[in-house]
Amino acid sequence: MKAVIVSDFGDPSVLEYTDTEIPEISSRQVLIRVVSTSVNFADIMSRQGRYHSGSKPPFIPGLDAAGVVVKTGAAVCRLKAGQRVMALLKHGTYAEYVAADEDLTFSIPDSVDFETAAACPTVAFASYKLLADVARIRPGETVLIHAAAGGIGTTAIQLARLLGAGKVIGTVGSDRKQLLPQRQAPTRL
Ligand SMILES: NC(=O)c1ccc[n+]([C@@H]2O[C@H](COP(=O)([O-])OP(=O)(O)OC[C@H]3O[C@@H](n4cnc5c(N)ncnc54)[C@H](OP(=O)(O)O)[C@@H]3O)[C@@H](O)[C@H]2O)c1
Repeated sequence: MKAVIVSDFGDPSVLEYTDTEIPEISSRQVLIRVVSTSVNFADIMSRQGRYHSGSKPPFIPGLDAAGVVVKTGAAVCRLKAGQRVMALLKHGTYAEYVAADEDLTFSIPDSVDFETAAACPTVAFASYKLLADVARIRPGETVLIHAAAGGIGTTAIQLARLLGAGKVIGTVGSDRKQLLPQRQAPTRL
């Protein structure tokens, strides 16, 4: 299969587009033909060797995959071949195929396209955990989100609303990153 490989820690020149083996799956994994992946800040830190749980080169970067299940492990019971799914991985999604744990692979509705689904797992799971489990947000509460223009920030704003927040306040590092809400102009602090 084709994949992007981090050959050594460093700047973008260490990324190689090359041929590699299709990964083997264990009994509790599925093989996914990747249609879309995401690019996260964590991918860049991994490439630079600065990510706390990053891999050692050579490795295939990428945490999120959306695609179609092509093979299932013997112990997989919830997913089947042909199903449209998204998955969260430790690395490996800048590739044509990934081996994903069944526990971290989720069916996607027909109404959600692969690009939208691929942009979801890393930022949505982290934002949900932060808001629901760490902050334990209650209906009507005001939420302050720093780095609001980033992947986590833009997702956390939307999830805070869905979880019933009253006012959501975001901070950004420069004028260029100010989001323009439909009903309210941004306030300079
Ligand atoms: N634990 C998890 O599961 C998990 C999952 C996803 C992300 N994360 C972490 O959450 C953080 C945000 O991730 P993200 O995907 O939202 O990243 P992102 O889209 O690249 O946004 C990062 C934001 O951080 C701010 N920032 C401050 N100092 C920075 C620096 N030196 N370089 C780059 N950006 C800087 C910038 O906003 P301003 O300029 O507006 O300040 C930037 O927009 C990262 O630390 C990431 O590793 C953790």
